[in-house]
Amino acid sequence: MSLPKSDSIPLAIVALATVVALYLTMTGSFASVSVEPEYDFDNAEQRELFNLMTAEFGGFLEPKMSGAWAMEGLQAGRKVFEQQCIHCHGTDGRAKTYTAKLLTPAPRDFGLGVVKFTSTPVGLPATRDDLLRTIKEGVPSTSMSRFEGSIGEQELQDAADYAMYLLIRSAVWTDATNRLAKANMSPAAAFTAAIEEQRQQFDLALASSTRPQVPDVADSKRGRKMYFDESLGCLICHQVDTSGGPVAGLDVWGQPMVARDLTQGELRGGGSPADVYLRIRNGVKGTPMPAMADKLTQEQIWDLVSFVRSVQEGN
Ligand code: HEC
Ligand code: HEC
Repeated sequence: MSLPKSDSIPLAIVALATVVALYLTMTGSFASVSVEPEYDFDNAEQRELFNLMTAEFGGFLEPKMSGAWAMEGLQAGRKVFEQQCIHCHGTDGRAKTYTAKLLTPAPRDFGLGVVKFTSTPVGLPATRDDLLRTIKEGVPSTSMSRFEGSIGEQELQDAADYAMYLLIRSAVWTDATNRLAKANMSPAAAFTAAIEEQRQQFDLALASSTRPQVPDVADSKRGRKMYFDESLGCLICHQVDTSGGPVAGLDVWGQPMVARDLTQGELRGGGSPADVYLRIRNGVKGTPMPAMADKLTQEQIWDLVSFVRSVQEGN
């Protein structure tokens, strides 16, 4: 076989490059690089507020945080998010992606600054550790898979930093736009007030977060009695046979709600005694699952935990 004549070599290279480019385009290798989202604003004040946000928090692709909010893994976390999370949660965490539309329950929209499963009392946001737990363990029986084992420990930590960034940024934005809409405030004043308020909220959340010590004894019979006590309402939503069912209305993300089937082994917020304790103590945020912290003592909550775990399959 003879070598190609010298003038046909550039042609061969061009042909090869075209095939490679076509292949990359068709497999989406180019399309997967996300771009900074563009927004339409109702008015110039909102645009100004957004510019203040960008000055403080950077863009979604080039995030930054300073002071008490500084996080080491933020930049690296964005890369992990890009590779592992954006097809469901979106570049800006608003979960407005094509994939998200196909999923029930929908991937979390971080835009309200709220997530469901936290270690913090009602009304307070999640801690970074709450997000890390969700990312590690996933949300069983949903498309939110368990990332522990599929990505490294450092990537898990970095992803938690970036998810926290999205949550804080969203909480500040929501707070500031509400102030702008309600009070006669300048965007700068609304922004400053929102930053201050949200710093306090996130500090308070961290200070009041609890990971409870599981007691040696808890009484599932006493728990059962409480479950059937109509004033607590468990059986009204979760049904007499604890198999759950639809609850009227929508959650804060506009999704239909189902009181969880407690007989299923895999609870969404985690099935360990400590997880179930936190769900009953703090409720499930953004949904009607109420917090019992003000109604029941710790001991009573543990009794309920014991009952809930006793109805689970396999226990
Ligand atoms: C295949 C889609 C999908 C991917 C990929 C995905 N998630 Fe999720 N995620 C979900 C769904 C669905 C939920 C909501 C589950 C629910 O409502 O109970 C969720 C919820 C969450 C929550 C909030 C849980 C709560 O308490 O409300 C966090 C935090 C989160 N995901 C982070 C991540 C991170 C970080 C990644 C990437 C490492 C990721 N997710 C990848 C679908 C996905
Ligand atoms: C007003 C209706 C309502 C009442 C009252 C209620 N729940 Fe719930 N509960 C829900 C809903 C809805 C969810 C699912 C939240 C979600 O979307 O993840 C839930 C979730 C839970 C979970 C978490 C399950 C998981 O998958 O992690 C537990 C545990 C639970 N409820 C136990 C109880 C107990 C015990 C009581 C009584 C003290 C109670 N619930 C009262 C509606 C209710």
